[in-house]
Amino acid sequence: MDAERRLTIQGALDRATAVLATAGIREPRREAIRLLGDLLGMTQAEVILGRAGVLEPDRRRWLDRAVERRARGEPLAYVTGLAGFRRLELRVDRRTLIPRPETEGVVDHALRLCPCGDAVDIGTGTGCLALSLRLEGRYRCVLAVDRSAEALAVAADNRHRLGLAVDLVRADLTSALASASVDLIVSNPPYISAAEYAGLDPDVLAFEPRMALESGADGLEATRRLVADGPRVLRTGGWLVVEIAADRGEASARLAVEAGFGQVRVDDDVYGRPRYLTACKEER
Ligand SMILES: C[S@@+](CC[C@H](N)C(=O)[O-])C[C@H]1O[C@@H](n2cnc3c(N)ncnc32)[C@H](O)[C@@H]1O
Repeated sequence: MDAERRLTIQGALDRATAVLATAGIREPRREAIRLLGDLLGMTQAEVILGRAGVLEPDRRRWLDRAVERRARGEPLAYVTGLAGFRRLELRVDRRTLIPRPETEGVVDHALRLCPCGDAVDIGTGTGCLALSLRLEGRYRCVLAVDRSAEALAVAADNRHRLGLAVDLVRADLTSALASASVDLIVSNPPYISAAEYAGLDPDVLAFEPRMALESGADGLEATRRLVADGPRVLRTGGWLVVEIAADRGEASARLAVEAGFGQVRVDDDVYGRPRYLTACKEER
């Protein structure tokens, strides 16, 4: 067997690290370990400990193609097709946004404020919020809504793989929901303005769906409509939990007050940035 055919995991790791470093990827070694682990179905520790193991030629070619994709700037989660979110390992591809760590906080607020009843996730993408609520909460019904049929197909795949009971609906925000039909609305809506969108990281612009990110001239279009219709959809005592842009906390809170919500708050994420709008539909 020649050296090429006897490529070890250690050799593949070195090769991937060198390619990623040349492409200017920050932390190339760490990314190479994650890439190998996700693609070979191994933990990162197993990649490091199993470095003498030999890679079959077909796996090696597959790995080379994945490393090339990452070197061209495609986000790691799209290359491996996997993204971690709270307790879930989700499938993800270019049809939907890659779940971000700060979005996990939406679930913490939701579980604290409203851990049972009927819940809806507006703009579900991979289904990360709806599936986490189903797994971690005590909800009677969890509904996941998205306007994108492609995103819903990804959410359906995740629902199936994880075996979690979530209903999927294609609709524009809360328009398909009956009045006073839910106790909890969670959402990570698109919240980037048209001008901010143009200035995003080139890799985000090239790979992630625009519908998941941009929301009108001021970035508040989806949030404005969602908050305005919230009191109609929620039962009395129900809660709205929405991820917002860090620089639009005051504007978002004002929208909630204007819509008639009570107990309006904006809370920080783990990085200390104001990112979560919470509001209650109180008795009038
Ligand atoms: C920021 S992404 C969030 C995805 C996922 N919830 C997450 O946190 O990773 C916004 C999602 O809202 C969906 N969306 C955008 N406009 C919408 C609308 N008017 N009605 C329903 N869904 C919408 C997009 O397709 C996308 O999946």
